[in-house]
Amino acid sequence: MAIASVEAFFIIKGGVSKVEQANAKKELFNAGKVDSFHKNKTYPFSTGHFFLRRFEDGGFLAMSVKCTHLGCVVNSNLETGGFNCPCHRSQFNRFGEVLAAPATRPLDIFPIVIKNGEILIDTNKAVKRTSFEKSQLTYA
Ligand code: FES
Repeated sequence: MAIASVEAFFIIKGGVSKVEQANAKKELFNAGKVDSFHKNKTYPFSTGHFFLRRFEDGGFLAMSVKCTHLGCVVNSNLETGGFNCPCHRSQFNRFGEVLAAPATRPLDIFPIVIKNGEILIDTNKAVKRTSFEKSQLTYA
């Protein structure tokens, strides 16, 4: 009896989380108003698993927190504006490009759409890249 209850719990829970995942896929993460982000600063969004950086020219880049070596969560380096991985010490610059191995490719980025002055990020679509290019920035 007790085992059956536990199984039922997991079946229900599994069903719910699948529905949640399906809904989440359609929704974009709303990071807030464009004006609330200062230039030359990085903002962590731990629930969205990304860092939002606004560059000197006003362009935005949403970078995944996942290290491209083995997937640990990187920390932002407040001095350089870049990122450090606590696991095997990979370092990334403020564009997410590799400064120190073992990571070999830049942090993935998420597509950004700016609508009605709000920054919307598609956190379900990590985009791999080999380097930073200005075309990756999104402007208001
Ligand atoms: S997971 Fe980041 S350096 Fe290994």
